[in-house]
Amino acid sequence: MKVYAHRGYSGRYPENTMLAFQKALEAGSDGIEFDVQLSKDGEVVIIHDETLDRTTDGSGAVRNYTLAELRKLNACAQWGDTYGFTPIPTLEEYLQWAKDTHLITNIEIKSGVYFYQGLEQKCLELVKKYGLEDKVIFSSFNHSSIALLKKLAPHILCGALVENEGLGNAGYYCREFGFEYYHPGWKNLLKEDMLNCKEYNIPINVWTVNDMDILLRMCEWNVEGIITNYPDVCKIYLENKK
Ligand code: G3P
Ligand code: MG
Repeated sequence: MKVYAHRGYSGRYPENTMLAFQKALEAGSDGIEFDVQLSKDGEVVIIHDETLDRTTDGSGAVRNYTLAELRKLNACAQWGDTYGFTPIPTLEEYLQWAKDTHLITNIEIKSGVYFYQGLEQKCLELVKKYGLEDKVIFSSFNHSSIALLKKLAPHILCGALVENEGLGNAGYYCREFGFEYYHPGWKNLLKEDMLNCKEYNIPINVWTVNDMDILLRMCEWNVEGIITNYPDVCKIYLENKK
């Protein structure tokens, strides 16, 4: 089972920062999940919320600031002085770093609240630039984003993200739309959904698994991967379980 670090090693380090990505690598993660949005001048930046207020010392919408303005903000702000200053990373900065690692990268396109024009194309171009097409999985709650990616690059791997009660007949749905993966939240993944995905040969990556009882259930269900805030804890648990 693969272990993906959710927003990097976000259980112990400021989410979606290069520090959290480096720590996720050191923690033995197989992959990293993070979220992308566009700046005012069309640069792909890594940040979870559409607004800056929760995670940085800025405020307002990400899309109202240029990259140069965003880079002045501290992406560790919610941790007080613990980690000093770390800027909001760009997708390019991440890919440049990740290309020399074994990591699989799950890029979550945050287009469910605001639909950024050209975000999918820009992400794809950057992934191609760094030769990482076979080490990336795109996902989105907004399935039109991943449908667009499949249209632009049919070989690129995509996962259908769902929240709340999940999606009945998810395996069939993913197969029909050509999505290679199903990405449900663990709370809403029923055994029947898992069996449906198995029937249609759709592997499942589940988020956000921080509890070892849930991890064990996911193992028993043979899910392909889990996305967690504590990658080293999950890795150690999985190794000791063997
Ligand atoms: O991609 C899995 C997970 O990150 C989805 O939820 O809100 O943490 O982006 P969220
Ligand atoms: Mg995410």
